[in-house]
Amino acid sequence: MAEGVFSRAVAEAEQISGAEATAGDDFVLFAYPDYQTYCKVQEAGNKAKIRAQYVKKSHIAYLAGYLTETCGLISFGLCHGVRRGKEQAWFRRKLPGAPEVIGTDISETATQFPNTVQWDFHEPNPDWAGRADFVYSNSWDHAYDPGKALRAWVECLKPGGVLLLDHTAGHQPRATSALDPFGATEAGLLRILVESCGDLGQVQEVLERMADADYPCRVIVFARNP
Ligand SMILES: C[S@@+](CC[C@H](N)C(=O)[O-])C[C@H]1O[C@@H](n2cnc3c(N)ncnc32)[C@H](O)[C@@H]1O
Repeated sequence: MAEGVFSRAVAEAEQISGAEATAGDDFVLFAYPDYQTYCKVQEAGNKAKIRAQYVKKSHIAYLAGYLTETCGLISFGLCHGVRRGKEQAWFRRKLPGAPEVIGTDISETATQFPNTVQWDFHEPNPDWAGRADFVYSNSWDHAYDPGKALRAWVECLKPGGVLLLDHTAGHQPRATSALDPFGATEAGLLRILVESCGDLGQVQEVLERMADADYPCRVIVFARNP
C-alpha cells in the first residue's frame, strides 16, 4: 500500500479532529473534542486504508498454535479492530474444532466482511461477557480510553481465558497521531493493563517475536483469574 495513502489518512484525521495530545513518561494519548468526532475520524481512516493489512497470516498462525498448546480446544474468540476481518478468518482456519471467532470494527464497512460486526470495542457487550477463550488485538492504539477498552475486553474472557495484545514499533508513543490516538511503551501498556484490569487477572507472560522478519513484535498475554 502506497505511503501516500497513510499520510493522507493521517492528514485528514488531523483536519477533522483537532485532537490534542497528552504525553506521559510511557504513553501518548490524543483527546478528541467529542465522541462523534472520534467515530468520524476512525471511520474515515478505515475507509482510506480499507485495502491495507497490518498483522500477517504467519503471526496469527503462531498465536493459534500458542492458544492450542496453552488453552486446549478453543470454542469462542474475539478480535478487535479488524478492518477487513482477516485475523478472525485466519484464526478460524488454524484453530482446531471449527471455533466461532468474531471480529469488531467501528466502521460501517465492517458488515462487508465475514464474521465481522460493527462495534466500538470500548463498549461491553453482554452477549460476549465471560464467554471468550481468547481476545486478540493489534488495534488497541486506536482507543480514546485505553483502560476502558482493555477492561471491556478482559470482561469478555471466561475464567482462565487470555487476552493477547501485540506490541510493535507502530504502537510506540512516537507513532501516535490523530488517527492512532494512543501509543505506549511495552512497560506503559503493561502498567495501564494492570491499573485497569488487575482485579480481574494477571499478566501471564510476554511472547518474544522481535526476530520475526514478517511481523516483529512482542505479545502481552494477560490471563483472567480462574
Ligand atoms: C490499524 S487498523 C488494524 C486493522 C487490522 N487489525 C490489521 O491488522 O490490518 C485499526 C482498525 O481498528 C478500527 N477501529 C478503530 N477504533 C475502533 C474502535 N473503537 N472499535 C473497533 N474498531 C476500531 C479501525 O476502523 C481500523 O480498521
